[in-house]
Amino acid sequence: MCGIVAYIGSKKAQELLLEGLKRLEYRGYDSAGIATLSKSNSTTGDVASLKVVKAVGRVANLEDKLEDMGGLNGSVGLCHTRWATHGGVTEFNAHPHTDDRFGIALVHNGIIENYAALKTYLESKGHVFKSQTDTEVLAMLIGELYSPAEGIDLEAAVQAALREVTGAYAICVICEKEPDVLVVARKGSPLSVGVGNGEFIVASDPSAIVSHTSQAFHLDDYNVVKITRQGFKTSTIHNVAVTPKVVQLELDLEEIELGTFSHFMQKEIFEQPKALKNTFRGRINVQDSKVVLGGVSNFDRDLVKARRIILTGQGTALHAARIGRYLFEDLAKVTSHDEYASEFRYRNPIIEENSIVIAVSQSGETADTLAGLREAKDRGALSLGVINVVGSTISRETDAGVYLRVGPEIGVASTKAFVGQVAVLTLLSIYLGRKRFMSSEHCRELLTGLEQIPDKIQQVLEYDDLIKKVTAKYIEKENWLFLGRGYNYPTALEGALKLKEISYIHAEGMPAAEMKHGPIALITEGMPAVFIANKGPQYEKVISNIQEVRARGGHIIAVATEGDEHIKRYAEDVLYVPDVPECLSPMVTVIPLQLMAYHAAVLRGHDVDKPRNLAKSVTVE
Ligand code: M6R
Repeated sequence: MCGIVAYIGSKKAQELLLEGLKRLEYRGYDSAGIATLSKSNSTTGDVASLKVVKAVGRVANLEDKLEDMGGLNGSVGLCHTRWATHGGVTEFNAHPHTDDRFGIALVHNGIIENYAALKTYLESKGHVFKSQTDTEVLAMLIGELYSPAEGIDLEAAVQAALREVTGAYAICVICEKEPDVLVVARKGSPLSVGVGNGEFIVASDPSAIVSHTSQAFHLDDYNVVKITRQGFKTSTIHNVAVTPKVVQLELDLEEIELGTFSHFMQKEIFEQPKALKNTFRGRINVQDSKVVLGGVSNFDRDLVKARRIILTGQGTALHAARIGRYLFEDLAKVTSHDEYASEFRYRNPIIEENSIVIAVSQSGETADTLAGLREAKDRGALSLGVINVVGSTISRETDAGVYLRVGPEIGVASTKAFVGQVAVLTLLSIYLGRKRFMSSEHCRELLTGLEQIPDKIQQVLEYDDLIKKVTAKYIEKENWLFLGRGYNYPTALEGALKLKEISYIHAEGMPAAEMKHGPIALITEGMPAVFIANKGPQYEKVISNIQEVRARGGHIIAVATEGDEHIKRYAEDVLYVPDVPECLSPMVTVIPLQLMAYHAAVLRGHDVDKPRNLAKSVTVE
C-alpha cells in the first residue's frame, strides 16, 4: 500500500528520498509526491521555504517533473507513494498534504476515520480544502492547533491533533517555521526510524532504510518522535516520555535487490529451496522425532488442550491457512476451520474454551487479519501468528508464533511466503500431533519427507523452460480453470489467484468435484483446465473429473507425479513434480502454477512486480 520515506541530515534530501521511494514501489501505488524545506538567506536571517511536487503514476513521473524544474534543495524532507482510498488518483489527492497557514507538510499511511467531522469543524474555522482526502484534514488540524506563541510547537501540535483522531496512521510532518525538525508518529500502521550518524531516515518499510543504516527503532502505537540532526525524543500523544529500543535491522541489501533475475517474483520463486531450508533450520530433529518451535513452547499445555483451531488470513495466506486446516485435522486430530479474517471479524464468531486462533500473514500488517486476530483475542482465544515480517504488528499482538524466515518478499504476488506458510503450518501440526496422538515413527517419516522438500522444489524449478512453453501455448486464452482435491484443492485456488493477479486472465479455482455442480457450464472447446493430479488417495477421482472436462472440449494441463505415464492419455500437457507424501504435496505442486502465472504475465507484457490495482500489504479494511 502507501509508502513513506522522510529524511533529516546533512545530505541533499531529494536523492535519498527518491531512492527510498523506489524501494517501496513494490508495495503498490498510483501517485507519488515529495516535499523539502530549503533555506535561503534574507536580510532577516535564514528563511525556510517548503516546496511540494506531486505526480500521478510512477515515481519515474515524479522524477521527470523534478528534473524539469531543476530539483529540490534542502536536507529535510519527506515523500510518499499513495494508493487511493479517499478520493481519486489526482495530483491534488496525492501526498504530501499541506496546511493553509504555516507551511506544514504531511505524508500519511492509514485512514483517518473521523475525517468528515474534523473537516466540518475546520471549515467552520475558515480552512479551505483542495483535496478529497482524509490526510489533508490532518495537515489542516495540525496547522489549526499550531501556536508557537502559546508554546505549541510542531511536536505538541502533532500530539494534540492525534488526540482528536480515530483511525490508523503513520505520519511524517515538517514545517517551514521549524526547518530543522521532523516529527513522526504511528498508530496501527508501521513506521521505523533509521539512526545514522547525524542523520535519520524514517520509512514505513525497513527496505528503504537498510542502504543507509542498519540501526533503527520501530515506533509503537501512539508514539510521537521529534527528530533533529542532533538526536530524537520519543513520547506518546499524551506527551509521556518513551524510550525506544534501537535494534539491528535483520535485512540484507542483497535480499532486496534483483541480482540476475528479471523480476522479484521470479527471484522469489527460484529462491524457495533456500528460503525453506531457512524455515526448517534448527526446527526439525528427525532422529528424536521432534519438532523444535521455541516461539510456541511456552504454550505447550494450552496447545495440547486445544479443542478447536481457527486459521485466518486473506488471499494467498488464506489458501495456506486452508491447507493448515487439513493438516491440523489430519496430523494433530484437532477440529479446525479456516476463514477469511474479514468475515470472521464481523460475523460474531463463537469462540469456545480451548480455542486457538492462528493468524497467517506474510506482512503481519494486513488490516483484516489484524482485526480478526483482535476479535478472537477479545473473546478469549489463544492467538498464534504465522508471520514473515519480524516485529510486524500481528507478530507483536499474538500470544506466540512461528516466523516463516523466508526473507523479504518484494513481489506483490506472494510465492515463497505461501510455501513458507504451508511449511510452518506443517511443522506446527506435527508439533501438536506429536504431543497428542502421533507415533514417533509417523513423526519421523513426516519429518524426513519435510526435510527433502527444498530439494524436491529445486527439481520442479528445473522444468522452468517446459513450463514456459506450455504456458505460451495457451497464452491467448482468457478463461482458465484450476482444479484439485484434498490437500491440493487450496493449491488450485492459489494457482488461479496467481494467474489472475499478475496476468489479468480470468481464472477460477475450485475443488475438482465441485465443477460438475455448475462451473462445468463454462467449459468450451480449447479452454485450459489445470488439474493437480499427483498420485494420492484421490488420484482416480481426479482422473474422472479430467475426463468430464475433456468430454466437453477442455484442454487438460496436468500437474502429475514423476513417472506417471498413464496421465498422458488424458492430458494435452503434463508438468511433473517429484513424489512426496500427500500432506506435503502442496509445497511442490504449487511451483509449476507459480511459474505458469509468472510466464503468462511476462508473455502478455505486464509489469509482474507491480500488478495493476494491487498493493503488497493491504492495510485498509
Ligand atoms: O501480508 P499478508 O500475507 O497478510 O497478505 C494477504 C494477502 O493480501 C496476500 O496474500 C495477497 O493475496 C497476495 N498478493 C497474493 O499473491
